[in-house]
Amino acid sequence: LQALAARTRPDFRVGAAVALGPLAADEEYAQALVGDVGALTPENAMKAQYLSPRRGVYTFEEADALLAAAESKGMAVHGHTIAFSEAMPGWMQELPTGTAEERRDTADALLEYLATVVSHFRGRLASLDVVNEPFDVDQGTDLQENVWYRAFGPDYPVVVSRAVHEADPDVRQFVNENGADVPGPRQDALLALVRRTNALGGHVDGVGLQAHVYDLTTDAISAEDLAATLDTFGASGLDVRISENDVTDAEGPDAQAEQYAVVLATCLGSPVCVGWTTWGVDDRYDWYVDEDGAPQQGHDLLHDDGEPTPAYEAVRRAL
Ligand code: XIL
Repeated sequence: LQALAARTRPDFRVGAAVALGPLAADEEYAQALVGDVGALTPENAMKAQYLSPRRGVYTFEEADALLAAAESKGMAVHGHTIAFSEAMPGWMQELPTGTAEERRDTADALLEYLATVVSHFRGRLASLDVVNEPFDVDQGTDLQENVWYRAFGPDYPVVVSRAVHEADPDVRQFVNENGADVPGPRQDALLALVRRTNALGGHVDGVGLQAHVYDLTTDAISAEDLAATLDTFGASGLDVRISENDVTDAEGPDAQAEQYAVVLATCLGSPVCVGWTTWGVDDRYDWYVDEDGAPQQGHDLLHDDGEPTPAYEAVRRAL
């Protein structure tokens, strides 16, 4: 897929979120990846909860192994992610922010974490989600008041972006969000956040639109809406990555395949859209699990048990 995309857009990246476990252990999975993608997003390995189990303690082994695998296959790496409410270790979430002195100490701890991590990966990441899912869940437009917010206030993305820039001036910076794939209040809020962040000295190059499509009857992304979205961000000088695309097949494999193809073709057709990444490779390792931890049926990727799905064929035709 990467080779097909590169025929018309040499810099365009077809990517996938990848976990080290299956990559190391499952030859079929590794083959599907090697053949197809030009960029890798660590699915979990670069999240704070995995990188720093205790304050001042860092565990880079898994992320380093994943990056080494990507590099050995000539893939670019998209880092994921620095400030993310849902993926912090307990010690970080619980840093106190009641008094001014506590906020100073918490700010120090957060910035030490950021500088250590970004310096560690410096030169190996093409791009990085500096802030992930800033807004309240369920289509909210207010910022989640996580520890970064409590330590630095509502303009914490400026602090994060500047500190990332200081530690790695070359990494392309993204703010990544779900539910902002089509025009609407959530998208307006994302654009406003990034514009404000950069107006205050941040270095954000673009936005990641996750494009998780869980219900094709209500949440399908049309070519028209996505094209308008790309124009909107492009008009503010921002790049867009489709960062976590995955589509339910509850409406049938044809509808699913069509949705993938529409998103990819629309992205590829706009110079604003610099890459398209699926959130996973093979349904065997689908991240989306139900309340009991069992994989959800009907939430499918481009491969299933090592075999290409109809979605894979549709995507290939769209390139
Ligand atoms: C998910 C991973 O895929 C799961 O393995 C993990 O248990 C939870 O997080 N949006 C994001 C990703 O930005 O980091 C999430 O990844 C999926 C939703």
